[in-house]
Amino acid sequence: MIFFLYILLSFLYTIIILFFVYTIYAIKKGAPFVPTSTKNIAKMLSMVKPGESDVLVDLGSGDGRILFQATKTGCRCIGIEINPTLYWLSKIISKIRRLNNVSIIRENLWNFNLSKVDVLTLFFIPSKMMKLKQKIQNEMKPGSRVVSNMFQFPNWQYTENSGKMYLYIV
Ligand SMILES: C[S@@+](CC[C@H](N)C(=O)[O-])C[C@H]1O[C@@H](n2cnc3c(N)ncnc32)[C@H](O)[C@@H]1O
Repeated sequence: MIFFLYILLSFLYTIIILFFVYTIYAIKKGAPFVPTSTKNIAKMLSMVKPGESDVLVDLGSGDGRILFQATKTGCRCIGIEINPTLYWLSKIISKIRRLNNVSIIRENLWNFNLSKVDVLTLFFIPSKMMKLKQKIQNEMKPGSRVVSNMFQFPNWQYTENSGKMYLYIV
């Protein structure tokens, strides 16, 4: 019994350490994990209006909450997440919920090509918004929709906003 408890606690301890180590790494490479509220996800989705023929990508998908809400619209949902603990958590939730049109990829988003993406959702930090803007404008198709939670892209006029959520058309 004590041995079993020891194994369980060691496992939990490892996961917690891994989460914090990768949170620091994620801050260096992009942004820390701060989840978007359900209410704001609904607002973001109403701005980008994903449809059945769309591929939606959440760049830095965290625990997968944007994907899980977006899947109800029938679009194909892809999450890109660098933190392995969040990647596994979101993967397990999507398996339990049997969400067939959700895939989650553990990757550094700067290496993920956006040319086949119709709808992009993101929640990043101001210091990375210029680099992200360049990536989006270089890779995404004209007419594709991007919604940013909280922060605007520098020198790019948004098409619409709802509070601190900003819609951009490439
Ligand atoms: C502010 S959170 C947003 C989470 C989720 N999109 C939401 O709105 O609830 C940013 C997420 O991006 C991830 N992230 C940061 N840098 C990344 C990178 N270079 N590649 C992939 N994911 C990254 C973090 O681990 C974190 O989960």
